[in-house]
Amino acid sequence: MPDYRDEASLLRTEQSLTNYPPLVFAEEARDLKKDLARVAAGEAFLLQGGDCAESFAEFHPNNIRDTFRVILQMAVVLTFGSKRPVVKIGRMAGQFAKPRSSEVEKQGDIELPSYRGDIINGIEFDAAAREPDPERMLRAYSQSAATLNLLRAFASGGYANLQRVHGWTLDFVQRSAWAKKYNEMGERIGEALAFMEACGINPDTVPQLKATQFYTSHEALLLRYEQAMTRQDSLTGGWYDTSAHFLWIGDRTRFDGSAHVEFMRGIENPIGIKCGPSLEPDVLLKILDDLNPAREPGRITLISRFGHDKVEAGLPKLVRAVKAEGHPVVWSCDPMHGNVIKAESGFKTRPFERIMQEVAGFFAVHRAEGTNAGGIHIEMTGKDVTECTGGGIAVTDASLADRYHTHCDPRLNAAQSLELAFTLAEMLTAELPERVEKAA
Ligand code: PEP
Ligand code: CO
Repeated sequence: MPDYRDEASLLRTEQSLTNYPPLVFAEEARDLKKDLARVAAGEAFLLQGGDCAESFAEFHPNNIRDTFRVILQMAVVLTFGSKRPVVKIGRMAGQFAKPRSSEVEKQGDIELPSYRGDIINGIEFDAAAREPDPERMLRAYSQSAATLNLLRAFASGGYANLQRVHGWTLDFVQRSAWAKKYNEMGERIGEALAFMEACGINPDTVPQLKATQFYTSHEALLLRYEQAMTRQDSLTGGWYDTSAHFLWIGDRTRFDGSAHVEFMRGIENPIGIKCGPSLEPDVLLKILDDLNPAREPGRITLISRFGHDKVEAGLPKLVRAVKAEGHPVVWSCDPMHGNVIKAESGFKTRPFERIMQEVAGFFAVHRAEGTNAGGIHIEMTGKDVTECTGGGIAVTDASLADRYHTHCDPRLNAAQSLELAFTLAEMLTAELPERVEKAA
């Protein structure tokens, strides 16, 4: 937790937040929990994605629109590949606080406190910017409210029209360096839509095709903010963190006895737990018992993030332990956070091949264990950035400098995100016969 020096300002800020309107309704969080229960049961697939860190500087309607659009495109491809509905959650409208491995950052002879996300301090390398400022929480709240407002408008106002989303994807496929590979699936989706249209199923006759359900999420790291946004639901009497539909506990704060686990125990939102290589099965089971004593399906999503070379060795022991105890979790794969390397150019990057390797490893583990590979959690943007190397229009080490805009970790760009979706859709299609057999 940041060490705020201006206590009076901190208290004033917390007081203000407590009086602000909730960003989401408890009923929406319950809807998401139901959707995630379907994912846990193997009846739906989860797609969670967005920025590593949202920032005040990158706040622009086009950025929100482009990320939302790519998530929708990915979802259509994944729906087609898996023949299941896709539950969509953005790392958006509140993803501001960042856990850091080091308390300090050194440049030359100067050492300053690390940047911890725009909700806490500034990214500029000077002492004043790095001082934690409570009032940043108010700005983060406002930006989250405006972002969510736009997302709600996009989701229900016609922008998410299925036929239009597919049109954008076709356009991408035609320009893609891997066009041949994706064309076939793109055409099959188009045929399915044309067939539906011929049967009279189109956005005018079936309004669901015009709209979509889109949820928000972020890491519940800054407990002062999360606590101030927590309200008692007048319908059920339960407590909900109304800063987002879904909150998760990061890999650095998911130990037994952590304040973050304790906070999550008190709220009824669906929650995620990051599971990295240092997590032991008995600790995970203890946390699961604490956070979901009633074993409610949809309450817990376990987000594994091992690294491309560690997932197949490390994940099975967690999967087995959770299965043996009968905890009804969603297993989701974060192929980003275990695959960060420093490029020769000095940039932090993630090679696309390693990201894909971790996804493949995750699927292999679940196939072998007879459990359900439920979803994916990625850091991405709708912009054409150059932050992760590789992909169809190969971003090279040398081109990282061209458009490296992230405020924290390297994100997949729009093309890389869609490539991931197509490849993942193929994996999900390959699973279908086994699924049908299991269901029978
Ligand atoms: C993140 O999701 O941005 C993050 C910091 O992940 P992890 O806690 O898994 O390292
Ligand atoms: Co990150």
